[in-house]
Amino acid sequence: MTTLSEAKKDLRKNGYLTVDVDPTLDLFTEINRLKKEKNAILLAHYYQEPDIQDVADFIGDSLGLSQQAAKTKADIIVFAGVHFMAETAKILCPDKKVLLPDLHAGCSLADSAPTEPFRKFREAHPGHIVISYINCSAEVKALSDIICTSSNAQKIIETIPEDQPIIFAPDKNLGAYLIKKTGRNMVLWNGSCQVHEIFSAEKITKLKVRHPQAKVIAHPECEEVVLKMADFIGSTSALLKYTMKDEAKEYIVATETGILHQMEINSPEKTFIPAPPNNACACNNCPHMKLNTLEKLYLCMEYEEPEILMDEQLIMAARKPIDRMLEISARFGL
Ligand code: 13P
Ligand code: SF4
Repeated sequence: MTTLSEAKKDLRKNGYLTVDVDPTLDLFTEINRLKKEKNAILLAHYYQEPDIQDVADFIGDSLGLSQQAAKTKADIIVFAGVHFMAETAKILCPDKKVLLPDLHAGCSLADSAPTEPFRKFREAHPGHIVISYINCSAEVKALSDIICTSSNAQKIIETIPEDQPIIFAPDKNLGAYLIKKTGRNMVLWNGSCQVHEIFSAEKITKLKVRHPQAKVIAHPECEEVVLKMADFIGSTSALLKYTMKDEAKEYIVATETGILHQMEINSPEKTFIPAPPNNACACNNCPHMKLNTLEKLYLCMEYEEPEILMDEQLIMAARKPIDRMLEISARFGL
């Protein structure tokens, strides 16, 4: 058995405190108790496992979660999501303690834009404004002019004067989709999300044969070939809202499977089928998002570790483009 002090020593290596959790504990009760005792708010992304969503104070997409972090009065923000999301919360609330259940919960898309190559890319395109998707590191945010999410990207691009050249990073699929939607000829960084690139257009076609009434709904991080098949394209929260208002009874959902939990809660009479990946694995589960578990969540709240720690200058530099995003979003009521 690992002792707490041993686990603390190895925390950054393991990503979480590797101490045993008493299997007889009711973790829902414990997490709710810790929230109250510590004045902590628990924010969860739609891609988290259902148990984590069920115990969260707020479940949302990347934009909604940033907005909640920016306005919370809690002393501690517990972020059930991936590293760049918790980092964004820390940038917005530098005086608060921000906890992430597993520090190793990264993002393939954020990893596809390393800082130095990104700096060079930016320097190679002088005069361009840099719009970066929130799925990137704090260092890349600091090299960007405006941050966006899939909920507000189109509106943000539309605020940029027509003659102003734009770099869009790091997601080439979202970028290509936005070029089509806005008619702006943006320079794209060559990054992508491992989960959204895995969907098989051929298998979706076969699924449609068996479910002819089913509508295909897709996240704009998917490849064009999948987006072309979609009846509706949107961020996680837009997909959820669509299924709540739309009249169809069946949906093939081309995004991470975690979102199905809220779709099923909100529309229990409807059927939601995860879009199949192009191989036999469960690759439409994000391996990074799914590193967080109820046990790790409990441990991080109990011991207030692992905590997101950041350099103050980096916080200040990364904050400007995030603030611009929040201002523009507020202006458009997003
Ligand atoms: P949204 O939360 O903006 O829909 O993005 C999905 C995603 O991939 C988050 O990592
Ligand atoms: Fe990153 Fe893709 Fe996972 Fe979202 S689903 S956290 S973009 S790897």
